[in-house]
Amino acid sequence: MKRIKSDIKNINLASAGNKRILWADKDMPVLAQIRAGFSKKKPLKGVKLAACLHVTAETANLMRTLKTGGAEVVLCASNPLSTQDDVAASLVKDYGVSVFAINSESRKTYYEHINRAIDLMPNITMDDGADLVSLFHSKRTKGISRIIGGTEETTTGVIRLKALALAGKLRYPIIAVNNAMTKHFFDNRYGTGQSTLDGIIRLTDILLAGSTVVIAGYGWCGRGTALKARGMGANVIVTEVDEIKSLEAVMDGFQVMPMATAAPQGDLFITLTGDINVIDKKHFLKMKSGAIICNSGHFDVEINIAGLKKMAHARKTVKRLVDEYTLVGNKKIYVLAEGRLVNLAGAEGHPASVMDMSFANQALSSEYIMKYYRKLENRVYTIPEKIDRNIARLKLKSINIAIDKLTKEQEKYLSSWEIGT
Ligand code: ADE
Repeated sequence: MKRIKSDIKNINLASAGNKRILWADKDMPVLAQIRAGFSKKKPLKGVKLAACLHVTAETANLMRTLKTGGAEVVLCASNPLSTQDDVAASLVKDYGVSVFAINSESRKTYYEHINRAIDLMPNITMDDGADLVSLFHSKRTKGISRIIGGTEETTTGVIRLKALALAGKLRYPIIAVNNAMTKHFFDNRYGTGQSTLDGIIRLTDILLAGSTVVIAGYGWCGRGTALKARGMGANVIVTEVDEIKSLEAVMDGFQVMPMATAAPQGDLFITLTGDINVIDKKHFLKMKSGAIICNSGHFDVEINIAGLKKMAHARKTVKRLVDEYTLVGNKKIYVLAEGRLVNLAGAEGHPASVMDMSFANQALSSEYIMKYYRKLENRVYTIPEKIDRNIARLKLKSINIAIDKLTKEQEKYLSSWEIGT
């Protein structure tokens, strides 16, 4: 058997990892159906595909699907803290996927691993945050002409790639999986909502009922997290910079105010904005002793941890992924998961049931690239609505939900302008 190139924690973890992968698989019926179709059609035959995604059980099922479709696949992590080492081992041992990812790897190793994925000289890239595409467009441009297209999983990555396209520098077409309705309406809202609280609770075991939770950002992820925190009995404050989203938060029944006003009130702070230094030095100064801060946005830039380090006269890790900073007046501030994605570092990321649709979009986007790459320009595309709606139909079917269909009369009514009162 061909030796699979990899750099993982421990191959002996494979059996535990495989159990996790199969457990997730039972909640991924849409992806399973796509895999069955891929097994017959082999739409990715001969393709080399490099994926930079969170190495989780759900991602493993996507890798199985791509491989079944005929692709040669290499996987590296899209975050140094999110890799499930047992899953990585099973991917290598049981599924023949080349993996370069180790949980808690250093920044240097993280980039070395992305470079190993690039060594495959892929034809398709699959990204979560655009680190792979970014490296291809900067330090590793050799081989970029072989790439026929790429996909991007997350809001932050799509923003980066649109900036690259706007600068006229994007070298191949990208399908923004994040923009599919069957992705962001569900994964970003319900997935992030649930998994963020899951990560916080696993790391801290705090009671949310009766506490004040400050949510920075009211995009899909912020909305979902605010909704779930309220469901757990928390008093939720939302901070925003966008006037429309702020109004929406007000009418959804949340308190809305600037971070500086929220800072002395919050027991728990969660950032989900995609922007930098949303919680800054001036906010730490106003916080209560015991305040807990974490981030569920893609990059670890939302909390000014470097600033906090400078302000603190002591720092210690009091529990796994819980750092205590002591400030003037013996005030304690706790930062979870070093400001990295708390849902993936502290828990297991989004549940398989939502990743089912996100990864169905990923699999079908790679098939779409194979079919249409000759016609695509170097732009960021949204997946065609027909594919998106088909994923929703398959998901509904898998959970035995039937819906109504327009009658001929209703169709006619909707396409006419003559019929009024
Ligand atoms: N992003 C958020 N949750 C995830 C998961 N469970 N697997 C892969 N990527 C994710």
